[in-house]
Amino acid sequence: MTKGIFVLGINGSARKNGNTAKLLKKVLEHAKKEDAKTEVLHLIDKDINPCRSYCAKNGTDCRYPCSIKDDMNEVIEKIKVSDCIVLASPNYWYSMSGLMKNFIDRLASADMNPSILNGKVAGCIATSDYDGSMSAISQMSTALNAMGAIIAPFNNLFSNSGRGVKIQFGEKDKRLARNLVKLAKLTKNEHGTWV
Ligand SMILES: Cc1cc2nc3c(=O)[nH]c(=O)nc-3n(C[C@H](O)[C@H](O)[C@H](O)COP(=O)(O)O)c2cc1C
Repeated sequence: MTKGIFVLGINGSARKNGNTAKLLKKVLEHAKKEDAKTEVLHLIDKDINPCRSYCAKNGTDCRYPCSIKDDMNEVIEKIKVSDCIVLASPNYWYSMSGLMKNFIDRLASADMNPSILNGKVAGCIATSDYDGSMSAISQMSTALNAMGAIIAPFNNLFSNSGRGVKIQFGEKDKRLARNLVKLAKLTKNEHGTWV
C-alpha cells in the first residue's frame, strides 16, 4: 500500500486533450493503481507571467511568495502538498514548450532554503511528432534536479506520435508510475532534508 502519496501532474501543452495530456493521464492512471492520489494541472488554465529576475537585482528580492500577483503562488502551494510532480511537455523545437519553461523559471521564488522541491520526487515526460523529446526531458530534469528534486529511475518517457498518428502507450508508462510512487513512498519523510 502507498497510502498518503500525492502525485501532481503538470501539463505544459496548450492542448488539454492532446498527446502530452494523454501520456500524462496514462502515467497518472498507473500511479492511481499504485494507490496514489493524483491530480492534473494544465498550465494553459493559469495566469503565470514571466519571471522578472528580481534575484538578479538583489539576492534577497526573490522569495516565496513571489511578489508577482498571478496564479503562480497558488500553483506552488499545490506543489508544496504533493509528494511527487510529473512535468509533461510537448517538444517544441528540441526544447520544452514556452508554457513549461515560463513555469519552471517562476519556480525560482520557491527555490529558497530549503527549496520546496527539495526531496520531492519528480518525473519528466515529453511528446514529439518525430524527434527531440529527449532534449525537452533533459532540460526539465536538469532544472528540477538543480532545485533539489529526486528524479525517478527510468525517467525518460516520451512518445513520438508522428503527425496525425495516434499516440502510442506502452510498458514504460507503467514502469515510470511504479517507480515514482515507490520512490515517493521511500523518501516521503525526507522532504527538505537534502543538502
Ligand atoms: C511550435 C512547435 C514546435 C514543434 N517542434 C517539434 C520538433 O522539433 N520535433 C518534433 O518531432 N515535433 C515537434 N512539434 C510537434 C509536437 O511536439 C507534437 O505534435 C506534440 O506531440 C504535440 O503535443 P500536444 O498534442 O500536447 O500539443 C512541434 C510543435 C509545435 C507546435
